[in-house]
Amino acid sequence: LTVAILAGGLSHERDVSLRSGRRVAGVLRDEGVKVHVLDVDANLVPRLDELRPDVVWPLVHGSTGEDGSLQDLLGLLDLPFVGSEAAACRLASQKPVAKALLRQAGLPTPDHAALPQSLFREVGARTLLTAVERKIGLPLVVKPAGGGSALGVTVVERSEDLPEAMVACFAYGDEALLERAVRGTEVAVSVVDLGDGPQALPAVEIVTEGPYDYDARYNPGRSEYFVPARLDETQTRTVQDLAVAVHRSLGLRHLSRTDMILDDDGVAWFLDINVAPGMTETSLFPQAAQAGESSTGELYVSLVRAALR
Ligand code: DAL
Repeated sequence: LTVAILAGGLSHERDVSLRSGRRVAGVLRDEGVKVHVLDVDANLVPRLDELRPDVVWPLVHGSTGEDGSLQDLLGLLDLPFVGSEAAACRLASQKPVAKALLRQAGLPTPDHAALPQSLFREVGARTLLTAVERKIGLPLVVKPAGGGSALGVTVVERSEDLPEAMVACFAYGDEALLERAVRGTEVAVSVVDLGDGPQALPAVEIVTEGPYDYDARYNPGRSEYFVPARLDETQTRTVQDLAVAVHRSLGLRHLSRTDMILDDDGVAWFLDINVAPGMTETSLFPQAAQAGESSTGELYVSLVRAALR
């Protein structure tokens, strides 16, 4: 069995992706799988043509790795791959699209407005932000509509901080998502789908001092994780059911990770879905995998085999 892992690329999460790629490669090699880690650059197509791997595992986070582009390319090359197909990636990676679809499916997600930078130029920032504040209220979270790893994300408590948050957000993309901030427990639930229906892995609870930002995500020791999350049976079922429902509603395949907040009334609010979740040493999917029923190595090999079906 030969696997080509795609990592790197040009997204803002390049470094995270390289770390994910190395980590997954190490786990698969320990299971006796032959692995090549390829950077996504101008040599990619010739290298894939030369290697003709049995399976490709795209581990590029953000941009072409999660927006369906690499998945379309792999389809053109007739290469089976781990993870969701292109069309589903396109819907899932755009937060406003995913939120709208999930709301239609009856799943809770905080109120939001999706605002492109062009609209700010056309109607003016002040009127736009006043309208958002009136409708959504404060505190709210400003994030790039297609971003990841919390880059460009700001929690805004005071109106005077909104313009700066918008500038930070637009450094990472042309569209901003402004979302009502929900208070509660931060939980991530990974889902594995090996052909017999999506199954939730143990929930991961995240505790940070301050926001769960890039630094808190990738510097060991900056955040504390509880796996399984410190939730009662009903709460656990609520968060796991939400993740499975998200995976199903968006037509995802093989693996995904849903990030959510569980509020004090027991409602789990969908925040974000990751079709290529981080696989670094501090990432959430590997922590959930480790706490699951099969070993991480067995699970990753099963994901590779699922791509062959
Ligand atoms: N977007 C990163 C890789 C994550 O959420 O895990």
